[in-house]
Amino acid sequence: MTIFKALVVSETGDGGYQRAIRDRAVSELPEGEVLIRVRYSSLNYKDALSASGNRGVTRRYPHTPGIDAAGEVAASTSDRFRTGDAVLCCCYDLGMNRPGGFGQYIRVPAAWVMGCPPGLTLRQAMMYGTGGFTAALSVDRLMAYGVSPRDGKVLVTGATGGVGSVSVALLARAGFTVVAASGKVDQAPFLLRLGASEVVGREAVIDQTGRAMLKGNWAGAVDTVGGEVLATALKTTRYGGVVTCCGNVAAAEFTTSVYPFILRGVSLVGIEAAECAMAVRERVWARLAGDWHLDFLDELVREVGLADLDREIDRMLAGRLHGRVLVNLDR
Ligand SMILES: NC(=O)c1ccc[n+]([C@@H]2O[C@H](COP(=O)([O-])OP(=O)(O)OC[C@H]3O[C@@H](n4cnc5c(N)ncnc54)[C@H](OP(=O)(O)O)[C@@H]3O)[C@@H](O)[C@H]2O)c1
Repeated sequence: MTIFKALVVSETGDGGYQRAIRDRAVSELPEGEVLIRVRYSSLNYKDALSASGNRGVTRRYPHTPGIDAAGEVAASTSDRFRTGDAVLCCCYDLGMNRPGGFGQYIRVPAAWVMGCPPGLTLRQAMMYGTGGFTAALSVDRLMAYGVSPRDGKVLVTGATGGVGSVSVALLARAGFTVVAASGKVDQAPFLLRLGASEVVGREAVIDQTGRAMLKGNWAGAVDTVGGEVLATALKTTRYGGVVTCCGNVAAAEFTTSVYPFILRGVSLVGIEAAECAMAVRERVWARLAGDWHLDFLDELVREVGLADLDREIDRMLAGRLHGRVLVNLDR
């Protein structure tokens, strides 16, 4: 019987939740065609919600979060994968309602598994993880909708976060002039190192006037926080500009008028990584492994072990993290 270590979140009985590293048996994992020995995972906002008892993300506890996993195939009944293959499994229901990548083994349907993109190690793939993939998807959509570096500045909100920081770096690398909006003024040097041309405080991208439209500043915006910040991004985007929306850290609801759309032709584009088609995943991951690869990834990633996750999750929920957190399952 194979026993492995996993972070397990369980109910305390008084409405609270606790996290502990526990021994689990591979035989307890749910059915699936591919058993993966996980080497690396990463910390995403959805993991922090799952790890703190958010029933919108995870219905049943005890539970092991971790929407990202990279490792080697330990056993497979699928023709697509052989023992020893280096693979990734990101999102779908992994770490939400199925034991996830904060355990040393996962068992999943073959349809959720993709080969580790050539050119990336397992570790590098998880340095990007779902946060980096979502950033790449946002930049990909912005460009597919026609925004180019010569059109003007692009705004990134929640800029020090996992999605935000990779978005800043990818946009700068693609030649865009990036304005990074952040609640952490002390992290301006970090954002400038990633390639931001300018760093502004979060309050600068939250409209206080209540007017339907404001001066058009941005050719595009990658919004990772939602709420008033997203509403403001829409009314400060220039004619024909594009705003992507992937997150709700600030708020799930936002109020807008029709004017950004009917007076300036602004497009609001939804970004969804969890159920994203495999063909899109493979194309965007190939860009991260190829022409978009960031050779300074170490600048924006911190590596932790399973035992450190409890603290890192609390810091993420408090909005105190910057950059991406890589989880080494053997540390
Ligand atoms: N749609 C998808 O498929 C998808 C995929 C991945 C992630 N997401 C979502 O994207 C969002 C960001 O994820 P992440 O992993 O990057 O999280 P993260 O690392 O925790 O980053 C979130 C950032 O948002 C900013 N922030 C925190 N609290 C805020 C508040 N109250 N108001 C405004 N800004 C606030 C902070 O950046 P600053 O201090 O720099 O402002 C923080 O670092 C989450 O909502 C996540 O669920 C969605």
